[in-house]
Amino acid sequence: MKIRIYLSIIGSAILSSGLAGAQGLVNTATEVKITKLIKQMTLQEKVGMIHANSSFRSAGVKRLGIPELTTSDGPHGVRLELGTPSGKVSDMEDAGTYLPTGNTLAATWNIQLGYAFGSVLGSEAKYRHKDIILGPGINIIRSPLNGRNFEYQSEDPYLVSQMVVGYIKGVQDQGISACVKHFAANNEEADRTTVDVQMSERALREIYLPGFKAAVTVAGVHSVMGSYNKFRGQYATENKYLVNKILKGEWGFKGLLMSDWGAVHNTMEALQNGTDLEMGSDLGTPRREFNNSFMGDTVITLVKSGKLSESVIDEKVRRILRVMFKTHMIEGKRTAGEYNTKAHQQTALKVAEEGIVLLKNEGQLLPLQRSAIKTLAVIGENADRPNALGGGSSQIKARYEVTPLQGLKNLLNNSVDITYAQGYKIARGQGADQQMIQQAVDAVSHADAAIIFCGWTHGYDYNKWNDNAYDAEAVDKPDMNMPFGQDELLKAVLKANPKTVVVLMGGGPIDITQWAGQSKAILEGWYPGMEGGNALAKVIFGQVNPSGKLPMTFPKKLEDSPAHKLGEFPGVNGTVHYNEGIFVGYRYFDTYKVEPQFAFGHGLSYTTFKYDKMNVQKGAGKQAIVKLMVKNTGKVAGAEVVEVYVKQVLHLVERPDKELKAFKKVFLQPGESKEVSVTLNKDAFSYYDDKKNTWVADAGQYNILVGSSSKDIRVSKNIVL
Ligand code: BGC
Repeated sequence: MKIRIYLSIIGSAILSSGLAGAQGLVNTATEVKITKLIKQMTLQEKVGMIHANSSFRSAGVKRLGIPELTTSDGPHGVRLELGTPSGKVSDMEDAGTYLPTGNTLAATWNIQLGYAFGSVLGSEAKYRHKDIILGPGINIIRSPLNGRNFEYQSEDPYLVSQMVVGYIKGVQDQGISACVKHFAANNEEADRTTVDVQMSERALREIYLPGFKAAVTVAGVHSVMGSYNKFRGQYATENKYLVNKILKGEWGFKGLLMSDWGAVHNTMEALQNGTDLEMGSDLGTPRREFNNSFMGDTVITLVKSGKLSESVIDEKVRRILRVMFKTHMIEGKRTAGEYNTKAHQQTALKVAEEGIVLLKNEGQLLPLQRSAIKTLAVIGENADRPNALGGGSSQIKARYEVTPLQGLKNLLNNSVDITYAQGYKIARGQGADQQMIQQAVDAVSHADAAIIFCGWTHGYDYNKWNDNAYDAEAVDKPDMNMPFGQDELLKAVLKANPKTVVVLMGGGPIDITQWAGQSKAILEGWYPGMEGGNALAKVIFGQVNPSGKLPMTFPKKLEDSPAHKLGEFPGVNGTVHYNEGIFVGYRYFDTYKVEPQFAFGHGLSYTTFKYDKMNVQKGAGKQAIVKLMVKNTGKVAGAEVVEVYVKQVLHLVERPDKELKAFKKVFLQPGESKEVSVTLNKDAFSYYDDKKNTWVADAGQYNILVGSSSKDIRVSKNIVL
């Protein structure tokens, strides 16, 4: 009951904020004021505004009341203070709310939680006097190896497009700007600053751009970050096609495009191809002074010599000023933000609770029954390792972080005797440690129940965010194998006590084939934020019924995944060809009939759901209205994500076996039924025709498939459109 009230309040906030998004950044009265301001500015002042003046800021014009612009990472909390101190918040106060990472949020499949997540960020950023929060990160999860997958959301463009809107509106309704990143095709960390990405126009439009398009055209995002990589031979941040043609042209983006830190390479290209703000301009080798940025003093010389029209600079300044007016940096007054409130921590908890995914539960090993347990063995260094500071630029100094071990202690409150064994040692190149394995085996053999926390790792402190880390910026994972000899440990532990619950931590798929068949219960815990340990404990002991669903396919073997099978990763001689085209994630696994370890959209519950009475009707034009009943047929309350996929029955153009086009998360008491109704618009049936350069929805027969995962389709109906 409580849960539903909470969600309905947030739900109405999203609806009302729709108007704010639609009004956008351009307002006639403000444009007049902007014109007036620009007229009063010197060329030098204008140029000061289009490049960084310190690590996270760009200059204002004090005499005209234009403040500095202050950015901060992002995407799952406001980053600790770095670079020039703001003088407003001391270092002691920069420990804030650490939200679960992007994977966890996407795994909730709960749009309202996306909004709640964004609201926390916006509010804390405002409290910390930031103007732009550098998130969300929404690059498509193309390969399990990308070191930054943990920050991103999904392999599926529709799921990303839905989750990104709530997040951005949540941030921006606080009067702070979001910055969606990294635009575009930044799907690996290997050679990220130089790699040239080549892909078909169809893959670009159908897979890699929809999330960004929704951010701009639906959520009204104020800023976009251009990525490091090249796209079809030209750096993405200064890419004529991506920025001028698509972002600012087709999508009508009126906000500011900032570079990733150090991503500008050429003054003229950046100026003419749409870069509005150059950040990280000191990051080259050798380090440069900020006024020597590509978009620094050189620009003054170019304008003065007549090689560049000053109107090009005016346009960039205008875009920056629009964002400033919109977020009350100029005129009006910002409301005060809030910091480290109980409500923010509760949002972190809720996202973790709804994002944890129950992957396997044979013989209903889970939930563990507290009354039946006197001794519990907890295994694995990941059980007690804080993650907030790991990963790179997304690192957060957390106000606190409840590790899984602490979460179990909190929940069990001394009523159960807990034995902890480290099991493996987190260190690059470290293999199985026989002594640690023996200690773990001893612990689980003597316990009524056992839980092993394993998987990937982050770095763990500011200077060591990259140390021993597999989920981290600027590096990709070398393979999908479990590091630190964990397979050997798992096999031994599962043999010693078959009732061991396995909890995988980290930013996505890992190869579990060596022991998956031996295990009865597996949970995916991701990096679940500051309240993650409490959320995991509640799921394990049944206080929370899991409702998360995988936002990406878990392949059995790395070689099974399309980027590695059909495409390239990370590329050859500085270029990567996305030869798999649109066949990313389940689009590949389903079409090419490759059995995954766990399918996209998969996630179990402690209750069961029945899908019934499906009905599809034609709406106006190429529209289909899908209705069905979903019933909770088990004994406990739970939530089901109803996933709606579309398949074109006969097609001349190659299409994936099915594609996600709608979903709804439904909360149900035992025995309760609810009607689920979704409308599929023309977009749901369209593909991008590269020959005509436009979206096409063929007339003909479509199969509407509704189910609990991409592989667990419960009801389906055909419709002719
Ligand atoms: C990252 C961005 C980040 C920026 C500022 C870059 O290295 O790619 O995601 O926002 O640094 O920290």
